[in-house]
Amino acid sequence: MQTLGNKKILLGITGGIAAYKSAELVRLLVKAGAEVRVVMTPSAQEFVQPLTYQALSGHRVYLDLFDAEADSAMDHIELARWCDLLLVAPATADFLGKLNAGYADNLLLTLCLASKQPVAVAPAMNQQMFANPSTREHIKQLAAKRVMLWGPAEGEQACGDVGPGRMLEAQQLFDNIRQHFSPGRLDGVKLLLTAGPTREAIDPVRYISNRSSGKMGYAIAEAAVRQGAGVTLVSGPVSLAPPQGVELVNVESAQQMYDAVMQRAGESDIFIACAAVSDYRVDQAAQQKIKKSSDSMSLQLVLNADILATVSALDQRPFCVGFAAETQDVEKYALGKLERKNLDMIAANQVGDGNGGFEVDFNQLEVFWHGGRHAIGQASKSEVAKQLIDLIAERYTCASS
Ligand code: C5P
Repeated sequence: MQTLGNKKILLGITGGIAAYKSAELVRLLVKAGAEVRVVMTPSAQEFVQPLTYQALSGHRVYLDLFDAEADSAMDHIELARWCDLLLVAPATADFLGKLNAGYADNLLLTLCLASKQPVAVAPAMNQQMFANPSTREHIKQLAAKRVMLWGPAEGEQACGDVGPGRMLEAQQLFDNIRQHFSPGRLDGVKLLLTAGPTREAIDPVRYISNRSSGKMGYAIAEAAVRQGAGVTLVSGPVSLAPPQGVELVNVESAQQMYDAVMQRAGESDIFIACAAVSDYRVDQAAQQKIKKSSDSMSLQLVLNADILATVSALDQRPFCVGFAAETQDVEKYALGKLERKNLDMIAANQVGDGNGGFEVDFNQLEVFWHGGRHAIGQASKSEVAKQLIDLIAERYTCASS
């Protein structure tokens, strides 16, 4: 089936051993009807001959910024305008650093700089290089500049190491490209989401907070964008880059989160409360730093408003999804919250004892709604988020039809 008919893909290849996988990707894309043009950096040519991609794409491979044979003097600008998507796979650590810094010392970097089209990168490098703070920083900043990050996968590497850094397989990259162009299940849906912890001030330098990393909420936001939703993410303080295409509203306290959500809830179709909101705040936060003056001290705490319950009690209420992180009796507490907070769905998980949940990269969920339930088995938070969004889309469509 020509699932990518008329789509124009510019595939950039940089100098990594995974360049051989991109040959298969070109084959898959061409078979699906896409028009593919390949650009190689000088070091990519050390790994695979341009002729390989030329034979598979049916077009000459672009190699040089100063190519006298080029179709036009504005070659790089033409190419940058021509494509619907620019994918760099493999993307080396060197390339990601230069892309982030805005270098343009080869044809591919120049194209990336000159293109207004969406750019995706599929990192491929040794796991230690991927873990290096410089690489992490570049990736974080690229994500903030709306460069899509596809991968890397974890596993055995060409150098013998094991860990995250392998380029995604050609089939996975192909699926991502197809997904990128396909209309989503939440097209046109306005989705409001809370994520991360809140901070409740004790004084100007101290606060009460919790272990939430925000990873689950950010993964849900990304999965929802992929399904076509317009996503507003109200986030407590986390050290994560916002997913591409999300409107981010940064807050600190539960009260600020409440205000940000209530401003937007009325015009949202779906509300997902993934944040670990502090149940209590300090009654009177001190204006100045508290000095130690006695052996013990007490803080008077007062209950924060329940954001989720307030949204679900609105007359014009969105479809409401809550979370229940429990250390015991997960089902009982989750069902209790579904009723008490008048929710459409609740996603429950057991936290602690290596069960996933806070601060880790994997999770598992038991999702309940009136008259149904579904288990999402243990997987990476992005995979769990994908399945959860599919389920929410399904239930939301049922509820609104
Ligand atoms: O009652 P409990 O805090 O366990 O409920 C958890 C659910 O309620 C989560 O979805 C959480 O985001 C939401 N919640 C909220 N506002 C609060 C407390 C919890 O939105 N103040």
